[in-house]
Amino acid sequence: MSFNKTIIITGGAGFIGSHVVRLFVNKYPNYRIVNLDVLTYAGNLENLKDIENKENYHFVKADIVDAEAMNAVFEEWRPDGIIHLAAESHVDRSIEDPSAFVRTNVIGTVNLLNSARAYWKDNMEGKRFYHVSTDEVYGTLGETGLFLETTSYDPNSPYSASKASSDHFVRAYGETYGMPYVITNCSNNYGPNQFPEKLVPLFIHNIVNNKSLPVYGDGKYTRDWLYVIDHAVAIDLVYHEGKNHETYNIGGFNEWQNIDLIKVLCAIMDRKLNRTEGDSEKLITYVKDRPGHDLRYAIDANKINKELGWKPSVTFEQGLEKTIDWYLQNAEWLESVTSGNYQDYYESMYSER
Ligand code: NAD
Ligand code: TYD
Repeated sequence: MSFNKTIIITGGAGFIGSHVVRLFVNKYPNYRIVNLDVLTYAGNLENLKDIENKENYHFVKADIVDAEAMNAVFEEWRPDGIIHLAAESHVDRSIEDPSAFVRTNVIGTVNLLNSARAYWKDNMEGKRFYHVSTDEVYGTLGETGLFLETTSYDPNSPYSASKASSDHFVRAYGETYGMPYVITNCSNNYGPNQFPEKLVPLFIHNIVNNKSLPVYGDGKYTRDWLYVIDHAVAIDLVYHEGKNHETYNIGGFNEWQNIDLIKVLCAIMDRKLNRTEGDSEKLITYVKDRPGHDLRYAIDANKINKELGWKPSVTFEQGLEKTIDWYLQNAEWLESVTSGNYQDYYESMYSER
C-alpha cells in the first residue's frame, strides 16, 4: 500500500492523543500515522486496541526529550507533518515536580522543532508543525470576560508556564526560521480514556468506589468543558485548513463552576448505579485548595467557528452521559490504569518486536 502523507502524532497513547490518532487512522487510510509516545503513566496502548492492526498505523516508543532519538525518528519516517500533543499535563503534578514539565514540555518541544527544521530545511512547502496547547497559558479571568487569541500570556502554574514557554518557542521558530506552524489553545477536555487524576474521571472512579470527592477550596472555580472527540475534530480541521502562523482558541461555550458540575455528575451517577438520589453528593468533601489556583477559564471560540466552521457537536449533558457510560462499561481499563498493569501489558506486547 502506498501512502500519500506521513504524520507523526506525539502523545498518541494519551487521552486526547488517542482520540486524534483514531480519527486520523480511520478517516485517512492513505495517510501513514505514526504514534510517537514514551508511555509515561498517562500513556496507554490499550486506548488504541481497536486500530492497532490497521495498515496505516505505526507505534514508535521514543522520548521527545532525547534529541538524537527525535532526529532518528524524522530520518526514518520522513514526516510531512507533526501534531504535537506529548506533554506532562497535570497541574497538581507540576506543583510537585516542575522540572519534569520543563524537560518534556519545553525541551521536548524544542527538540521536535529542531528535528523538523533540520529535516524540512530544503523544502518547507506543504509541511506543518501543529502544536496543541491549552487555555491555561492565558492565566486566570475574573468573574467576566473571555480569552481571545490576542489575550496576553500570564501563566500561574508550573504546567501552564511550561506550555506557555513551548508556545513561544513554536511561534519564534515560525518567525525566525519560517517554520510552518499552527497552535491551538483549548479548554478543559473530558471524555473516555482520561487518566483518573483529572476532575471528571477521578470523581467517577471515586463515586463508583464510594470514596470521598475532594473539592479544592470552595468549589467555585470555573472551567469551560469540551468533549474530547469535538477537540479531535477541531484538530483535524485546523491541521488541514488552519492558516500558517495562526493561533486558534478551542472551547465548548460551556462554563461550569466545579461544584455545580460535580453535583450534575453525582446525580447522573446515582441514576446509573441505581443508588438513592443524593447518595453520591454525600461523598463531597471540601479540602485544602490548590496553590495558585486559577479562578476562571473561559474561551471565545468565535475565530475557529467563523473562519473554519467548527463548533462542538454534543451538549455537556450528552457528553457527560457518554463519558460516564464509557467508564462504567470499561471498569477493567480503570482498574488497570489505577494499578499500573498497563506497563506490563506493553512489555508483553512489544518487548519481542
Ligand atoms: P495525557 O497526560 O493524557 O497524555 C500525554 C501523553 O504524552 C501520554 O501518552 C504520555 O505517555 C506522552 N508523553 C509524555 N511525556 C512524553 C515524552 N517525554 N516523550 C513522548 N511522549 C510523552 O495528556 P492529554 O490530556 O491527552 O493532553 C494532550 C495535550 O493536550 C497536552 O499537550 C496538553 O497540554 C494539551 N491539552 C490538554 C487539555 C486537557 O484538558 N487534558 C486541554 C487543552 C490542551
Ligand atoms: P483538573 O481536572 O486538574 O484540570 P485543570 O486544573 O487543568 O483545570 O481540575 C479541574 C478543576 O477541578 C480545577 O479547578 C481543580 C478542581 N479539582 C478539584 O476540586 N478536586 C480534584 O481532586 C481535582 C483533580 C481537581
